[in-house]
Amino acid sequence: MKNILVTGGSGFIGANFIRYLLSETDYSGRIVNMDLLTYAGNPENLSGLDASAQGRYVFVHADICDAAAVKNAFEAYEIDTICHFAAESHVDRSIVAPDAFVNTNIVGTFILLEEARRHTDRLQRFHHVSTDEVYGSLGKEGFFSEETPYDPSSPYSASKAASDHLVRAYHRTYNIPVTISNCSNNYGPYQFPEKLIPLMILNGIADKPLPVYGKGINVRDWLFVRDHCRAIWTIIQNGRTGETYNIGGECEIPNITLVQTLCDILDEMVPPGQNRPRSNLITFVNDRPGHDFRYAIDSTKLKTELHWKPEASFETGIRQTVQWYLDNPDWVARVQSGEYRKWLTENYGERG
Ligand code: NAD
Ligand code: TYD
Repeated sequence: MKNILVTGGSGFIGANFIRYLLSETDYSGRIVNMDLLTYAGNPENLSGLDASAQGRYVFVHADICDAAAVKNAFEAYEIDTICHFAAESHVDRSIVAPDAFVNTNIVGTFILLEEARRHTDRLQRFHHVSTDEVYGSLGKEGFFSEETPYDPSSPYSASKAASDHLVRAYHRTYNIPVTISNCSNNYGPYQFPEKLIPLMILNGIADKPLPVYGKGINVRDWLFVRDHCRAIWTIIQNGRTGETYNIGGECEIPNITLVQTLCDILDEMVPPGQNRPRSNLITFVNDRPGHDFRYAIDSTKLKTELHWKPEASFETGIRQTVQWYLDNPDWVARVQSGEYRKWLTENYGERG
C-alpha cells in the first residue's frame, strides 16, 4: 500500500481518519484526499497536520461524480487503495432535498468503482464506509448483524444501501477487492453541528433551545470516532476481501438520556449561563418523518476475526468531545458564521 485515495477526507470522519493514519499508524505512503468541500467539508479539519504529513499528503479539490477528475487522480497518484467516505450524510437534509444524496452517494460511488475496475492490476483494496442505517429500524430487542436484510427508511439510508449493493456487485462481477463497513452513530471532534451531539453541545454552551424530536425515546448506538477510524484501518489491512463488517459502540442511549447527560456535563464544565440547569433548554419538537426507532450493532465478526473492540468509554469520549468544542471556539465560530465558506471561495473559487 503506497498511495491511498481517501474520499471525503475534509469531513468529520474522513479528517479524523487522515489524522489517525498520519499520527497513530505505521502507514508511510501517500494520502490523496479528494473532497468537493461541500457545506460539510472544511479544510480547517485538517489544518496543522504534523511534520510527518510533509510531502505525503495531497489535496485534490474534486467531485467524485466527475469521472475525468477521478481518472486523473488515479493515474497521477498511482492509487492502489481507496477508503471511500465522501457522501451526503445527514438524514434531515435527505428528507428535504434528496437529489444530492442520489448523486454523490450512488452515482459518485459508481464512478469510483468504474475507475477501480480499470485498475484491477494494481488495486489492493476498495474500502466502502457505510452505515448501520441501511438495515432500517429495530424494535426494543435484537441487534443488526451482517446478515440482517437491508430495509432503509430515509433517502440517506436508501442511497447508502444502493451504494453498498453496487460495491458488493463489483466484487462478485469484476472481482474488485472490496470490503464494506456498516457503522453506528459516531461522535467526536470536527463533527458538523447539524448532527445531534455537536448541535446539543453548541446550543447548550450558547443557552439556545435543545430540540429533541418526538418524545426523545429513539435509541442510537454511539461510537467515538477514533474507534471507528481504528476499525476501518484494521479492516483495510486485514479484512477479508468481499466481506462486510459491522462496527458498533456497545453503547445504546435513548436520545433524551443523551441530551440530559450532555446538559449535566455542560453544567459542570461551562461557566454558568442564564439557563441552569441546562436541561431547562430541552424542547420537544415535531418528530422526524420515518424516524427509525432503534439502532444496535452486533460487532462479533469484527471482534473475533480482527480483534477490534471499542477503546473509548462513552464517559471519556463525550467529555473529550465537549472539551474539544470548548477549546476550539474559532473553528466553531467560522463553521457557524459561514466564514470558512468565504475562505473556500477565495481559495478554491465558486465551486468551493
Ligand atoms: P460529513 O458530511 O461530515 O463529510 C462528508 C465529506 O464528503 C465532506 O468533506 C464533503 O465535502 C465530502 N463530499 C460530499 N459530496 C462530495 C462529492 N460529490 N465529491 C467529493 N466529496 C464530497 O460525513 P461524515 O459524518 O464524516 O461521514 C463520512 C462517511 O461515513 C459517510 O459515507 C457516511 O455515510 C458514513 N457514516 C457516518 C456515520 C456518522 O455517524 N457520521 C456513521 C456511519 C457511517
Ligand atoms: P443524527 O445525529 O441526525 O443521526 P442519525 O439520524 O443518522 O441517527 O440524529 C441522532 C438522533 O437524534 C436521531 O434519533 C434524531 C435525533 N435528533 C434530535 O432529536 N434532535 C436533533 O436536533 C437532531 C439533529 C437529531
